[in-house]
This record gives sequence, structure tokens and C-alpha cells, in this order.
Amino acid sequence: MSQPAFVYKTFARRETHPARMGALARLHGLAAPSPEGCSMLEIGCGDGGNLIPLAEAYPRSSFVGIDISEDAVHKGRAEIEQLGLHNLTLVCADLSNASVDEGAYDFVVCHGVYSWVAPEIQRAILTMGRLALKPHGVFLVTYNTLPGWRQRGVIRDILGVGAGSRADHPLERCALGLDFLKLVSKEKSAITTSFGRYITEALERFDSSDPSYIHEEFLGRHNEPLLFTDFVSRAKQGGLQFLTEARVVMTSSDDLSPAVQEYLETLGADYVAREQVLDIFRNRTFRETLLCRGETRVDRGLSVDVFKSLQLSSLYTAIDSRDLARGFRERTSGREVVTPPGDCTNLLAVIDSCGAQGACFADIFDRSRISMELAERDLLIAAVTLWRSGFIEVTTAPLSSLERDFDTVTTTRYARLQARSHPKVTSRTHDSHPLSEIERKALLMVEGAMSKRSLVTLLLSDMDQQSAEIMVNSLAERGFL
Ligand SMILES: C[S@@+](CC[C@H](N)C(=O)[O-])C[C@H]1O[C@@H](n2cnc3c(N)ncnc32)[C@H](O)[C@@H]1O
Repeated sequence: MSQPAFVYKTFARRETHPARMGALARLHGLAAPSPEGCSMLEIGCGDGGNLIPLAEAYPRSSFVGIDISEDAVHKGRAEIEQLGLHNLTLVCADLSNASVDEGAYDFVVCHGVYSWVAPEIQRAILTMGRLALKPHGVFLVTYNTLPGWRQRGVIRDILGVGAGSRADHPLERCALGLDFLKLVSKEKSAITTSFGRYITEALERFDSSDPSYIHEEFLGRHNEPLLFTDFVSRAKQGGLQFLTEARVVMTSSDDLSPAVQEYLETLGADYVAREQVLDIFRNRTFRETLLCRGETRVDRGLSVDVFKSLQLSSLYTAIDSRDLARGFRERTSGREVVTPPGDCTNLLAVIDSCGAQGACFADIFDRSRISMELAERDLLIAAVTLWRSGFIEVTTAPLSSLERDFDTVTTTRYARLQARSHPKVTSRTHDSHPLSEIERKALLMVEGAMSKRSLVTLLLSDMDQQSAEIMVNSLAERGFL
């Protein structure tokens, strides 16, 4: 069994959460289960960093991960044992000859593998995903796309030449490749051209990238970006069909110009051609595609009843809930946006007031009646608009299985383990963040369930009261507490 060059660190990936994939499946007519009581397989799971927090959050669900890396699987198994999880198994196997329980999984995930392995492993991924799926199961595959990735291919070529054959270790190869790229960026022919600007931007991006990512993406042996239409053809040959994209905002054309909208109209109901064209208008380099079995009946019209049955949560929080004109801040990145006044902004504020967990449509309708006078149909239109624009998300259930009030804080066991030694920590919303030292310390201070006030008091030896309150609220808002 050939082993990967060095262990790639795996983190929680929000799109793979079964409550998110399940909501998209239900909106397309598939009877997806709730996250509690489901079965999920991850192909190329690394050290299990994506599956472990799910296994902890949903003890009545079962999770299996397969990966060829002995080091990664051993590391993951040690953490699973440390956390006392009995519903997650990591299997060390090569996908080219691994077996899988047929028709056993509601959700199958393969992130960061397809474009980065040899063609026979790519075929094995689609075959395994198809075999593993239940009739109504969904299969998330991520891959690099053309034509957007073609430009990045230039950077990959330069890094490859720079690394040459002078070093074997991935970290040394990264360093050599990056030094060479910097040298190229300073040359006169690069400084004055758009090519030079592109290299400088790439170097800026690499500044905040993990070397394991740079190695895998730009120096690894395989990297096959492909046209979306080619991916769909391969999926079809493997008995699968395109369902939708994990990020709905990417399938929406609402923000594109009228000329583009007109062009898209000419494609009629050919949704695959439409997606391909959108990749070009957005210069897209990466896709997170949901597939399902080829024979499964897919409903592409949005069902109002299904939408109303889902949990709605805001990805943005108001900077000042008494003055919405000040705009909203993205919960995960802190990026600030100003939304135009109107129903959508008011509704976003109502959904935001339900916290990171959100609420079901009926509750939001009730709450919104206090501040807005809208008929249910208009509220629904506003909610769908917010969802398609990426301001809110829909899930089949609240993302944390812990029922808690806003004044009490708790942490997950995995977040505490990560706070001690991992570069990033996983939140209850299945996001990974590089928390600061003091934020990590705060997580480790929480014993069982405690009041926010007690945690703030414990933090007073490190910071003043106001800073401690702001930090604790921010950790709670992002789903760490
Ligand atoms: C870039 S990592 C992605 C890991 C993980 N899914 C994540 O999101 O971080 C690619 C993973 O695929 C695994 N892999 C590559 N070839 C494989 C094969 N033939 N069989 C099983 N796993 C393989 C590697 O060991 C590695 O853990």
C-alpha cells in the first residue's frame, strides 16, 4: 500500500454536515433523515477531523471513514478512543480495493480527494459512493474546476519547477517552490504584467495557507481540474446524477447582470449547461457537488412545504440590532456587509435574533409579526431570497443536539481536545477556526454546564470584565460555547 508523503490535517467542513446536506436533499424531493439517526461514510477521511465532531454530536448515528494513510488513521483512532466514541470507525484501506457496505449510507462525503488522485482511484471513488448510497442517499464530492483552475495551473507549474528534484520532504519542496515563485514575482517581466499581479496575489494567499494544503494542491503528483459537464458525465457513467451544489449561493444567478440572466434564459431547462456557464461567469475554481443515484426521482421545483419544514439560521449577525443600517457581520469571518433596507433586512434581523441555531419557519413567522406586517407568502419569498443570496442557511435540524439557554455555556469534548493541541477548533456549527490562546484557555475553563457570568469571572485574572464578556459572547455566537 503506497503511503502519502506526509499527514494532511483534516478539519470539519461545514458543507458536509448531514443537517445541511439533508436539507438540500429534501428540497430536491429526497427523503433524507435528520442528523440524529443517520449513517454517513467519508471516503478519504484523513485523521477523521470531519467525522469526530459529528460522531460526538449525534451518538445515535453511525459514521465510517476510509483512508489509506496509516498515520492519519492511527491518530484519528487514538482521539476516538480518548473521547470514548463508539459510533465512528476509521478503516485503513486503499480505495482501489476497499469494500463498503452496499446501500447502507444516507450520506457519503469525499472532500479534497477526487482531483488529487490517479484516474483509477477517481473511478473507485464514484463506484464506492454509488454502491454505498441508500436509494435516497446523497453523495458530496469536491473537485477543482475548469476553466477557472487553468490560471492556477500556471502557479502549480512554477512551484513544481522551483521544487524540482532537489528535495524530497514536502515542507522543503514547498519552501523551494515558494522561494522560486517570489523570485519570479520580482522580475521586471512579471512586475509590469497581469501575470505578475496574479503571482503576487497567489503569494499573498499562500501567506495564510497551511503548507500541507500548498503541497497537496500545487506540488502533489496529481491535480486534475475538470469541466463541470465532464464531471457530470463521469458521474453518470458511474450510475449517479447531479443533484445540486452544497453552496446554494453558487447556483443562483440573482447577482449577475441582466445580459447574463438573458443568456441563461436561452439555455432553458438544461440545468447542467446552466451550471457550466455559471462556472465561467464566476471564474469558479472549485466545486462541492451533491450527487444521488441515477435512478432516484429528483424534483427541481422548490417545494414551499419542504422549505417551511426546515430550520432557518442566519449566517450574519446585526452589528447593532437597534440600528440595522449599520449592517451585519458574517458570524464565521467577521466580514461586514450593508444590506438594503426592506423586508429581507428586517427578516434577517429576526432570524439572527434566534441565535446561531436559528428556528423553524413557523417560529420565525410568529416572531416577525412583532416587527413586520407581512403575509406568510411574502415572508416566505423574503426567506427564500435570503437563502439564495447566502445570508441564511437551511438545515433539517438545529445544528447542536444540546438544548441550552443563552446564559449557560458548555463545550464539546472534541473542542476541548482540539483547544489543547490542534491548530483549529471545531464549533457546533461544524466550522473550524484557529482560536487565540486566551479563547482556547476559556474553552478549557468550562466544566460541564456553567453560567456565562462564572466563566467571565474566571477570566478576570487574564483580562478586564468588558473584554471577557465580549470574548465569551463571541465564542457563544460562533457556536464554541
Ligand atoms: C487532501 S487529503 C483530504 C483529507 C480529508 N478529506 C480532508 O478534508 O482534509 C486526501 C486524503 O485522501 C487519502 N487518499 C489518497 N489516496 C487514497 C487511496 N488510494 N485510498 C484511500 N485514501 C486515499 C489521503 O491519505 C488523504 O488523507
